[in-house]
Amino acid sequence: MEAFEYRDGELFCEDVSLQQLAERTKTPAYVYSRRTFEEQYREAAQAFAELAPEVRYSVKSCGNLHILKLLAQCGAGMDVVSGGELYRALRAGVKAERVCFAGVGKADHELVEAIRVGVGSFNVESEQELATIERVAREQQKRVRVAVRINPDVGDSKTHVKTNTGKRGTKFGIDSERVPGVFQTFGQSPHLELESLHMHIGSPIYSAEPYLRAITVVLELAETLRRQGNPISKLNLGGGFMASYGLADAPEVPWSTFAGPITEALRPFVASGGRCLIEPGRKISANAGVLLTRVLYTKKCGDRNVVVVDTGMTHLMRPALYDSEHFVWPAKVQAGHAPSSRDPRQRRDGFDIYDVHGPICESTDRLAEARSLPPVQRGDLLAIFTVGAYGMVMASQYNAVPRPPEVLISGTESLLIRRRETYEDLVQAELETRAI
Ligand code: LLP
Repeated sequence: MEAFEYRDGELFCEDVSLQQLAERTKTPAYVYSRRTFEEQYREAAQAFAELAPEVRYSVKSCGNLHILKLLAQCGAGMDVVSGGELYRALRAGVKAERVCFAGVGKADHELVEAIRVGVGSFNVESEQELATIERVAREQQKRVRVAVRINPDVGDSKTHVKTNTGKRGTKFGIDSERVPGVFQTFGQSPHLELESLHMHIGSPIYSAEPYLRAITVVLELAETLRRQGNPISKLNLGGGFMASYGLADAPEVPWSTFAGPITEALRPFVASGGRCLIEPGRKISANAGVLLTRVLYTKKCGDRNVVVVDTGMTHLMRPALYDSEHFVWPAKVQAGHAPSSRDPRQRRDGFDIYDVHGPICESTDRLAEARSLPPVQRGDLLAIFTVGAYGMVMASQYNAVPRPPEVLISGTESLLIRRRETYEDLVQAELETRAI
């Protein structure tokens, strides 16, 4: 069931009126639905049930401690890409062995920390990284589990050019023809358990097909490695599963659309004792969050209706960075003006066309372009949808704008899970100077 819905012209998150909530939180504010996180997690687990994968939620998509805690309660482990994300996961109470540490540039100190706390596995992206992990593990007299990330070179996985990771020449993974050599060099180390192959081909991926192409490459490689005496017991399929942004030409893709064909492809591997792991982020978090913002000003610029709101690219980078389209609509509308869908491109007879801009001194600080909206006035509350993933986590303080609060809704309850930053927060790390 949709957690964000209009009731008598008023937008609710679960059973909380966002108009009323915004009176208390002020704006801008990120608001999340607990139920959506839980439902998405459950649907993913159910869809992939036959493979019974370990689910490692991708912390980078939405990493608030309280969100991590709730997903851990659902059964998720965590996929982290930095010492900071590892710290978050541990602070949220996630057991280190349920964390996999990915990322193309893990610093030495991050490896030392991660091995010390005993993370479950590393997704390794280069020969030098593996050599460093081997050295650190030896120094700590530990044995660590490793998934070698291969670049399956699946070419165009139909994602945004800035988020394609499964193509030769991108910085990600190890080219597959070098992987047997990696196992030969490191396979005998008593400090490494090279048990797994990892792939992540991009984000978002719109269908199962690019996964299947990559899985074919990975399975072939696993077979080569087995013949060389390096049996692969686990495959990590990465994340990237597309969430619905409401666009009519990119309709909702249910978990089963991915899970069905992927399960088919991996059935023999699992039947022979192999295990799987997935690292979803966006599909779990994207539609769990909206960003509430107030209209500061409306004006004409040439022939365009310009709406200036109190949030922008500092709090939601995606439109500026990827030209991504997020559905925007007033949180309170008169009868008959509730949205008919979540399609950002929907056109409504009699509605004016607006551009929605942020306050930042950059022309790319535009949250929405040429949108057909009910009449918009100074003081109106707008909701920007599908920003649970890669929203707050990518927020900055550019232009010295404090970051917004985060609120988690559960039924009729609303919990402030991150307070609004203050001006003091902006300068905190600059107050003490010392010669260096
Ligand atoms: N695993 C690995 C190794 C990844 O690099 C990523 C995302 C994921 C899992 C999770 O992917 P997801 O299921 O969330 O699609 N900032 C961009 C997305 C960057 C994704 C980076 N890696 C955006 O706003 O669209």
